[in-house]
Amino acid sequence: MAHSRKIVIGGNWKMNLLPSEVSAYADNLIKYMPKDCKTETIIAVPFVMLPLAQLAFGSSSVVVAAQNVSEYDVGAYTGEVSIHQLRDLGITHVIVGHSERRTIFGESDSAVNAKVTKLLKNSMTPILCVGESEDIRTSGSTEDFISAQLSSALSGVSINDILRVIIAYEPIWAIGTGITATTAQAEDVCAFIRAELRNKFGSIADSVTVIYGGSMNSGNAEELLRCKNIDGGLIGGASLSPDTFAQIINTANKLA
Ligand code: PGA
Repeated sequence: MAHSRKIVIGGNWKMNLLPSEVSAYADNLIKYMPKDCKTETIIAVPFVMLPLAQLAFGSSSVVVAAQNVSEYDVGAYTGEVSIHQLRDLGITHVIVGHSERRTIFGESDSAVNAKVTKLLKNSMTPILCVGESEDIRTSGSTEDFISAQLSSALSGVSINDILRVIIAYEPIWAIGTGITATTAQAEDVCAFIRAELRNKFGSIADSVTVIYGGSMNSGNAEELLRCKNIDGGLIGGASLSPDTFAQIINTANKLA
């Protein structure tokens, strides 16, 4: 049975690969991807590679995304990149609140909320990441934690705008560790996220894209993507090789 919502497969290169490698990567990914791709494919690359990636993916269906954006609009913020600068390049999708930004760079809930609401105001799509640490899971407070992250990040978001948000459930203990959440763990939290969205936004929650991230790869993608509330994946390590990433896209495409 086909998945009830559009499947979204996002690659997150993080701080990997080089500008000189973008073109060959894109050529290979396009070569190995299904020609009639029914899934939405997104690749989030470092800022410095955005224009190169846009050029390299050209008229293919792959959407080039940013991994972060400033919460500030314009001005004296050395080292930051603004929403308007990304928009001027034609970027439409931005990862917001990835756990590496929250834990390594101290990104606060209020900064995440500012980014989400400003992206929406500019007709862009935030890929909002939420997820608990191992300690939180062990203490049994995963749902409370995710609920608080969601309500803070989505504060001020309207019913009209929520459909444009992609929510990525990424348990911190599964990111880059090779330990994937079991399908039951991933599906349970994704279903919980949808229930929280239903409480806040009503039945439109059934149309919101909720994806899973954390050591997803070509071996475990199918099982995860078959879950009712998992509408795709955000993939770090396994997106760095175009043939492995294409295998995941091909798997998703079969289920779409
Ligand atoms: P991973 O990263 O696939 O390497 O675990 C996922 C992510 O952080 O988005």
